[in-house]
Amino acid sequence: MKILGIETSCDETAVAVVEGRKILSNIIASQHAAHAPFGGVVPEIASRHHIENLPAILEEALQQADVRLADIDAVAATYTPGLLPALLIGLQFAKSLAFALKKPFIGVNHLEGHLNSVFLDDPSPQPSPTRGEGVPIEYPFLGLIVSGGHTHLYKVEAFGKYILLGATRDDAAGEAYDKVAKLLGLGYPGGPKLDKIAHQGNPQAFRFTQPKLGEDSLEFSFSGYKTAALLHVQKQNGDLSQSFVQDLAASFQASVTDFLLDRIVAASIRHDLTNWVVTGGVAANKALRAKLEKEAQENGCRQYLPPLNLCTDNGAMIAYVGGRHLENKKYSPLSLNAMAYSELAKCE
Ligand code: KG4
Ligand code: ZN
Repeated sequence: MKILGIETSCDETAVAVVEGRKILSNIIASQHAAHAPFGGVVPEIASRHHIENLPAILEEALQQADVRLADIDAVAATYTPGLLPALLIGLQFAKSLAFALKKPFIGVNHLEGHLNSVFLDDPSPQPSPTRGEGVPIEYPFLGLIVSGGHTHLYKVEAFGKYILLGATRDDAAGEAYDKVAKLLGLGYPGGPKLDKIAHQGNPQAFRFTQPKLGEDSLEFSFSGYKTAALLHVQKQNGDLSQSFVQDLAASFQASVTDFLLDRIVAASIRHDLTNWVVTGGVAANKALRAKLEKEAQENGCRQYLPPLNLCTDNGAMIAYVGGRHLENKKYSPLSLNAMAYSELAKCE
């Protein structure tokens, strides 16, 4: 079954063709340059770009997959959560295609897409003792989504069975990265830029304390990191030297990645989950990936991470989840509406 996956929840216009776990094409038009002058995503600009990009991206995805529209068995699109006007563009485009092709339409939750992105075939070689090379991911697993809009920790019992163990009380991890990067004048999107520069600084130069959310808490909070970074920046009186920026980036990154790791290890012990899956844009972070590998090895656990291009938003993860719903005959009505906010599961 060849599934067309369309993703427009934020600032990436993405279309993919996926067959089972195999990615036949995965085209992403990034809008970073359009939003950079504003220091963040402007929903109306994102939506207008989706309208302009979608026809060409669809054409490219079909060409690269070497299929015609008539070969597509179903059309899947993100319908929640995300920026409402941006979601509406991709959703309506996908529904119109499904209607014209007389093929099933499947609305996909963006969070379910991220969580399942590790199941897509990964052609990139990632030799690692803890990354079950060729070993299928076994349920149940611990699933963390760390992105620009979400920081959610789940126990995943099976496809479609997600138990929320904890989420952020305020900012998402990627949002904190972007805001601190902005304070440091690194530009937008800040996460990858801060990640790059952090390796040149001293991670012990500045103190960032982990939020205190209660002894047994599996929740997250990142607003304190932003405030601490702001206070350090203000003390420089407008003169941010290169070494200050590098050291602050390194200290922020060290503390945030330690915090994420602490939560993973705590949840893994409490819920006896030895398979760890980490997805979303921040899962592309080099420091986090290195720490996860070390921590998994020390704890006798196995970690599964998507390749870098599947950490950030993409159509392949939406097509893959759409395909799984199709197997279960879970189609969506063409009247399905977009929703800005939604949860995959309630807190346990
Ligand atoms: O998953 P994603 O593309 O979109 C959402 O669903 O939110 O994640 C984008 C987020 C941004 O906040 C971006 O700065 C962050 O992921 N990000 C990173 C890295 N690459 C992307 N954060 C830290 N280190 C990175 N290497
Ligand atoms: Zn996302």
